[in-house]
Amino acid sequence: MQTVSGFSKLNKEEKIQWLSSQVEGETKTLVDNLKNFWHQDNSIQARFDEFSENTISNFDLPFGIAPNFEINGKTYAVPMVIEESSVVAAASLGAKFWLERGGFKARVISTTKVGQVHFKWQGPKEKLQKFFNDQKDVLLNNLTHLTVNMEKRGGGITALELVDMTDKIENYWQLKLSAQTCDAMGANFINSILEEMAQLFKSMVLYSNEFQASEKEVLIIMCILSNYTPDCVVECSVSCPISDLGEVNGFSPELFAEKFATAVEIAVVDPNRAVTHNKGIMNGIDSVVLATGNDFRAIEACAHAYAARDGQYRSLTKVSLSDDTFTFSIKIPLAVGTVGGLTSLHPLAKTSLAVLGNPSAQELMMIMAAVGLAQNFGAVKSLVTTGIQKGHMKLHLLNIMGQLGATLQQVEDGKQYFADKVVSYTAVRNFLNQ
Ligand code: MEV
Repeated sequence: MQTVSGFSKLNKEEKIQWLSSQVEGETKTLVDNLKNFWHQDNSIQARFDEFSENTISNFDLPFGIAPNFEINGKTYAVPMVIEESSVVAAASLGAKFWLERGGFKARVISTTKVGQVHFKWQGPKEKLQKFFNDQKDVLLNNLTHLTVNMEKRGGGITALELVDMTDKIENYWQLKLSAQTCDAMGANFINSILEEMAQLFKSMVLYSNEFQASEKEVLIIMCILSNYTPDCVVECSVSCPISDLGEVNGFSPELFAEKFATAVEIAVVDPNRAVTHNKGIMNGIDSVVLATGNDFRAIEACAHAYAARDGQYRSLTKVSLSDDTFTFSIKIPLAVGTVGGLTSLHPLAKTSLAVLGNPSAQELMMIMAAVGLAQNFGAVKSLVTTGIQKGHMKLHLLNIMGQLGATLQQVEDGKQYFADKVVSYTAVRNFLNQ
């Protein structure tokens, strides 16, 4: 592959031509593949091209539905975007299982988002602290043009603190802003405030008579919201008498409950297991995050930091088996939005939100938590009973058949043939060759 300059200035066709000139072998297939995934409707394609840079095609992922989620007495069919077989099936099974046992109970505990101006300042600490305390209201009053609309919607800045970080890095301080961003994820709102506040603070210090010449410089390092939102948290649980669990995949309710609880406890104490356990939870949550046009990288980064908040990485879910009652719950930070950003630009994100009844951000937090919990329930239920390969392989079989170009009849025959056999790529290829 050669280096290239001015790639971004080429039009889409030219970009593809350049790329195909660099790839050995079947360049026609490469070009055809890329073009096959262009959207037929030019206006939709133009919108997709604007989301990112140097776009030459679209990358499809399956959009599925997990029905029968009853959350706080309301029923949802949840859109999920995911490529991994058995995730939507597990969520749907989990939803149905708990639909028959009282559904999911969810509540949003808090919705605070945070942003920081990171800066350096040298001088006596008390002087800066006093200056900040005296001038904090002036600072905030000068930002009202940025907050007025959010305030009308019930949100806005809820706190502003000066944080002394000089014991970590010499002369390092923060202005730490807390905000309520209503149904928006809030990144633009918070970042705009931070950038303006930083410049304001810098000039206030510069022109203040309270500082000597050597104390007048605030060196702004950066202004950015924090994706760590441990105070934007939702809780969701399912619960029923242990006997109501019924026989689960051939296990008595008591034995199932005991094995299930131990499996979750293992994920609480062992990071090796906890990462995989939480990955299963995020299979569900990320699917809804993607379907609704939210930022899965932010959600992921935050969830895992939260899982390690006491210094050890642990399960995000927990189980209790007290008073003969099985209770399974999740507590997770989910800073999501239902207005602004991709939620209103991506046609399918809009559709997902419509399918969910155009929820508020808080309602969406509860839906996502329920899907994460259902997903984890489904995964751990399989792990402690049949093992995951059985269910996984059934769907995997269809994927392999698809990859090998099987006809509809071959797929039907294959399902029967592999009902009691181990599915592998080679076994499926041999089956088709026969
Ligand atoms: C696979 O994507 C997810 C699981 O590994 C989760 C788990 O082990 O709990 C099945």
